[in-house]
Amino acid sequence: MSARPFLKISAPLNALVAAVGLVAVAALTARDLDATAKLSLEFLLAGVWAIYVLQLVDTVIRRRDDRGRTPALVIDLLAVVVPLVGFLIAGSRDQSLYCGIWLLKPLRHFTFFRLLGRVVARAAPNLVGVTSLFGIVLFGASLVAYLIERDIQPDKFGSIPQAMWWAVVTLSTTGYGDEIPQTLAGRVLAGLVMMSGIGIFALWAGILATGFFEEVRRQDFVRNWQLVAAVPLFEKLGSAAFVEIVRALRSRVVPAGSIICRKGEPGDQMYFIVEGRVTIATPSPTPVELGPGSFFGEMALISGEPRSATVTAATEVSLLSLYSEDFQMLSSSNPEIAEVIRRTAETRRGRTPEA
Ligand code: CMP
Repeated sequence: MSARPFLKISAPLNALVAAVGLVAVAALTARDLDATAKLSLEFLLAGVWAIYVLQLVDTVIRRRDDRGRTPALVIDLLAVVVPLVGFLIAGSRDQSLYCGIWLLKPLRHFTFFRLLGRVVARAAPNLVGVTSLFGIVLFGASLVAYLIERDIQPDKFGSIPQAMWWAVVTLSTTGYGDEIPQTLAGRVLAGLVMMSGIGIFALWAGILATGFFEEVRRQDFVRNWQLVAAVPLFEKLGSAAFVEIVRALRSRVVPAGSIICRKGEPGDQMYFIVEGRVTIATPSPTPVELGPGSFFGEMALISGEPRSATVTAATEVSLLSLYSEDFQMLSSSNPEIAEVIRRTAETRRGRTPEA
């Protein structure tokens, strides 16, 4: 039997193991630790290290089939080698600190960090611009503070580098209060620097927030594009209308057995099936099954009446939902598609006996 299922560590377990290791590293720095507690913590670190050796073996084996695993391989290798080097070369006091490299471990799984990387790469010119502004204000404020305060507080503002510490603390509005301008001009300058700091940090936050929003929207757009392209009804759409519908549709995956809409409930959206099958519990003896490319939920949307039947996911089903406002938009820009949906609703209504 292959040992690989035992080597594979899931993302949450990986984060948990790293957390346990790092807590042990932190605990080992406590001054009043007795010998037994120290030994137990060191055993714990050895256990975490052994788990990471197994994980490294798994990554090396799997890399043969999947070349995209280089970042995970580098992290897994560092997680084993760095503590080992620490054990071999560092004094006993600092040996466990090398296990701090396990901070990198959760990075191997989180798609968030890949997203962050893309956001920073795309926003780089603006981030560099704001960072330059920060540098200019920092240097300018240090220079002026040096001129104003150097004779009154030579120990704190006696040089531009010394004044820079005050400028950083003030610009970031941290305000440790260890260096305070004594003159009126110095205090006016401090106020201006604080206001600039607030503006600069707001710019940084705004650039990153917009970057995240755009990146997530772009990913959704690309994914929806592929899903919409799989629905035959939209095949005849022109490119402008296609983009419009891609923006309007929301994708959703429903597990097998879940109820998607219930008979008698109000309905404000209709669904297109991309993958999987649904069962429609009509009052007729045999339930209706719909598969990829079909749609349902249009009857309540068009008539404003409650849902005519309960729809359940027969398998795991990937859906695109269209809300009533967007259906109106689709009806006005693409009357042929709206007509197909309307005619289908009428046929189905004719086929569905009143319960
Ligand atoms: P709606 O009434 O909004 O919600 C239930 C959906 O089931 C309904 O819209 C139709 O899309 C679908 N439906 C109802 N009856 C039938 C039928 N006889 N054949 C196929 N689909 C149906």
